[in-house]
Amino acid sequence: MNIVKVKNYDEMSALAAKIISAQIISNPKSLLGLATGSSPLGVYENLVNEDEKGLLDFSKVSTVNLDEYFGLSGEHPQSYRYFMDKNLFDKVNINKENTHVPNGMAQNIDKECEDYEALINDIGRVDLQLLGIGHNGHIGFNEPCDRFPRFVHNVELSESTIKANARLFDNEDEVPKRAITMGIGTILKAKKILLIAGADKGDIIERAMYGKVTTDVPASILQFHHDVTIIRV
Ligand code: F6R
Repeated sequence: MNIVKVKNYDEMSALAAKIISAQIISNPKSLLGLATGSSPLGVYENLVNEDEKGLLDFSKVSTVNLDEYFGLSGEHPQSYRYFMDKNLFDKVNINKENTHVPNGMAQNIDKECEDYEALINDIGRVDLQLLGIGHNGHIGFNEPCDRFPRFVHNVELSESTIKANARLFDNEDEVPKRAITMGIGTILKAKKILLIAGADKGDIIERAMYGKVTTDVPASILQFHHDVTIIRV
């Protein structure tokens, strides 16, 4: 595991964007696994800047996002599809058909989970998976529980995640209670993993990276992946 300590959010974002850029340059047909939330916003800004300067070409890149709230359509401003379109996909020369986010409005949530897992496998192995980390150690929406879920599945969000994400909604009651997320097994299949963690995530990063591997801290499983880079403030 390669852990890089940086001074601040801007340095974290610039460095992570460099790693993603290098991935796209070395393989223009890369399959990127992407995350939403506050952590990757600066990364996406940097990637958009590179694209605008003509230094990056997303035309053959494909993407799969980690997760989506259940019950929100892609037009809802707090949906992860909306976030990705607004902060990255609409601003770079990516083919939108090659961008994938679970369908939060699916009639049958379990079928959507199976279909999303199958879709990822059909496209191929994720070349580089970008991750943030929750204060409780979640990755994707894999909350602390009694096992490491293997596949895409639907989850009940924990109280702490609902509280943490309420800042983006009008009030806490509006935060969806369920989400569709890649499983820990889905995430671990990526060839490379890049996890970014801001200054507020110091304690959980210590537990996840140097502590015991445990389902109480889902990110701790990354200690077993052969190619993980962590950029932390
Ligand atoms: C988002 C995701 C989550 C976030 C995590 C950290 O797609 O999968 O695991 O990465 O909740 O969120 P921020 O970056 O907002 O602190």
